[in-house]
Amino acid sequence: MRKDTRFSKALRRENNGAPPIWMMRQAGRYHAHYQELRRAHGFVELCKNPDLAAEVAMGPIRDFDFDAAILFSDILFPIEAMGPSLVFDPGPQFSYYLKSVDDLAKYNPPPSVDGLSFQALALQKTRKMLPMEKDLIGFVGGPLTLYMFAVHGSHKTDLTDGRAGLRDGRFAGFMEKLLPLLLANMVLQAQAGCDALAVFESCAGDIDVDDYRHIYLPYLSKLLQDFKNMCPNTPLIYYGKNVGTAHFDMVAHLPVTVLGVDYNQNMSDVFTRYGERFSIQGNFDPAHLTLPAEDFHKHLEIFLEDMMRVPQHLRAGWICGLGHGVTPHARQENVRDFVQIVRRVCA
Ligand code: CP3
Repeated sequence: MRKDTRFSKALRRENNGAPPIWMMRQAGRYHAHYQELRRAHGFVELCKNPDLAAEVAMGPIRDFDFDAAILFSDILFPIEAMGPSLVFDPGPQFSYYLKSVDDLAKYNPPPSVDGLSFQALALQKTRKMLPMEKDLIGFVGGPLTLYMFAVHGSHKTDLTDGRAGLRDGRFAGFMEKLLPLLLANMVLQAQAGCDALAVFESCAGDIDVDDYRHIYLPYLSKLLQDFKNMCPNTPLIYYGKNVGTAHFDMVAHLPVTVLGVDYNQNMSDVFTRYGERFSIQGNFDPAHLTLPAEDFHKHLEIFLEDMMRVPQHLRAGWICGLGHGVTPHARQENVRDFVQIVRRVCA
């Protein structure tokens, strides 16, 4: 199925025409369709009611013609399944946090993945509504990001305490409980029929590169390897924010098909170094989508000029998107123009 979509061809690095396009948070507050649903329903209800989640995910497909839909959900639900209750107000808040090693006892031993079955139902409903030429992406948060949220409830604060927990037993103890659940969550989504599975490691660049290598990477590696053993046909997308070539060199040894690249990297350089190893996803700066049309268009022109310098045989593995997620202040007209212009220029 869907052997010849733009997305599947880019995964095989065989796409000769316009790249497939999708954006993290393409269903979200910038979009009138989402705002309208959100006036009637809470965010958690939109995620946990599969009919609503599918409707939310379809909004940007219908309005902007993206090549792929992404499961409408959130990365934080596995933490909720481990014990603490979760509300979005509007940012996430847990009923307790991982502030000491003793707090580890408050997190359940690997719980059953049944509590996350709403994601499988949402994927199945979305697949039914999605045209055949579009693909469907599932996702989880990366283990480091979920740990940082368990400690801090955010990734936008000072993460000193979370970094201290890498060495005081909290990180290792949390990984022991989280990883079996996270693996089961990934398998659940793969079995529900997603065409690729993204791991969003938004905190990847919040620890130093030696800690990334020696403390974090062994867990990531085991998680991805275990997933590949169980679901060999579901390609993995790994996105790390605020990372560079030292990290990409490590990820190159993992069973990752698509390297998600943030907006701090130059795409033609990344393609030169890694275009034979990975399909590469990225990396327009989401902040540009908030600008007046004229300024946005200038940035897009520069971005595409750089991309067109990438040799065609490498560009065949390009998945076009942002270097992070769409922000609430993005202008919908810019998102619409982005899809049309990328297709026209890169056809
Ligand atoms: O369209 C899609 O990409 C699918 C939906 C999606 C959401 N969150 C919906 C959402 C995805 C892929 C995510 C990932 C996510 N969630 C990440 C990783 C990517 C990143 O942003 O770095 C993180 C860290 C979270 C945690 C989270 N969820 C935060 C920090 C917040 C609140 C602040 C914010 O930026 O909105 C959320 C809430 C959330 N998740 C909303 C949406 C549409 C907004 C909810 C609302 O309507 O109020």
